[in-house]
Amino acid sequence: MKAIVKDAPSYGLVIKEVDKPEPGPLEVVVKITKTSICGTDIHIFDWDEWSSKTIKPPMQIGHEWTGIIDSVGSEIKKYQPGERVSGEGHIVCGECRNCKAGKRHLCIDQNGIGVNLPGAFAEYFKIPATNLFKVPDWIPDNIATIFDPLGNAVHATLSYDLVGEDILITGAGPIGIMSALIAKHVGARNVVITDIDEYRLDLCKKLGITHSYHAKNNLKELMPSLKMNEGFDVALEMSGSPDALNDIISSVKNGAKIALLGILPDDTKISWNDVIFKDLFIKGIYGREIFESWYKMISMLDSGLNIDGLITHEFHYEDFQEAIQIIKSGKSGKIILNWDN
Ligand SMILES: NC(=O)c1ccc[n+]([C@@H]2O[C@H](COP(=O)([O-])OP(=O)(O)OC[C@H]3O[C@@H](n4cnc5c(N)ncnc54)[C@H](O)[C@@H]3O)[C@@H](O)[C@H]2O)c1
Ligand SMILES: [Zn+2]
Ligand SMILES: [Zn+2]
Repeated sequence: MKAIVKDAPSYGLVIKEVDKPEPGPLEVVVKITKTSICGTDIHIFDWDEWSSKTIKPPMQIGHEWTGIIDSVGSEIKKYQPGERVSGEGHIVCGECRNCKAGKRHLCIDQNGIGVNLPGAFAEYFKIPATNLFKVPDWIPDNIATIFDPLGNAVHATLSYDLVGEDILITGAGPIGIMSALIAKHVGARNVVITDIDEYRLDLCKKLGITHSYHAKNNLKELMPSLKMNEGFDVALEMSGSPDALNDIISSVKNGAKIALLGILPDDTKISWNDVIFKDLFIKGIYGREIFESWYKMISMLDSGLNIDGLITHEFHYEDFQEAIQIIKSGKSGKIILNWDN
């Protein structure tokens, strides 16, 4: 079978012929229908500092996927071939304190599919059955394919009570945009999103996020037009830019709540005095709450959350190099790779 693989410790990715996996007793093998490309895959493609420390080639990559169960392990009773599934890409230990307490996203010994374990950019891949998520019939394949980043957005955005609050999101990448749509869906008052890329700001407008602004704007000057007096109540950092985090810290109200999802450089500088004297609450966000974020995303899609417009391109997997170049240009939302034809 064919798979997209980091074959050597250097720039780029290749399509390779690899063996079709067999399920272990507690695993299933999935025939992949669609995958989508994440920023992590681009880091792996580029062979940047993080990926060269983390990835051990040859590694089959990819962790955003949907497919049909092809075969199940000898101990699997609750899944059958033919079922449509997606799944959680963090494989946890099941034994640490947090795992045992049901807080699997806080596991001390996690592995990521497509990072430390063979991933989903392949005609078939295997995954522990405990990581599967059955896709409801009414959900289109394209949306099931982006459950993983949608789950990131759900985890971050539902961290705090947003009803009637004014929300700032920095970074209108796919996850920032999904978060803005979720914040509106759950009843925030103003949802403001910033970016430095005009394509991304236009995409926000197309999806009905009207308060999308270039990050060069002074947010405090915008506040009177939004009937805001003191600053944003909740902020979600979704760009990974130190400038954006500083924009957040200077434009939130005293006592505001901040969630950090974007991966910031270790040497990011902020005004710690502002954090202290403004009595700010800052929380890191990693992955998805397993499976509470998944439950909530299905409920919100069922109650009218619409993320369809976020998928801007589709390619056959053999054209993945072109898809990667489009992502690198910044002129895309989510990009789907098709594996079933
Ligand atoms: N914590 C986690 O578990 C987790 C999971 C997935 C992704 N991430 C991280 O979350 C972030 C968002 O993911 P994504 O896929 O949407 O990424 P993305 O790279 O597509 O989007 C980031 C956006 O931030 C914008 N940006 C850059 N500088 C900015 C600034 N100063 N102000 C405002 N916007 C600015 C970029 O133009 C881009 O549109 C990334 O940093 C990603 O690595 C974290
Ligand atoms: Zn991802
Ligand atoms: Zn654990």
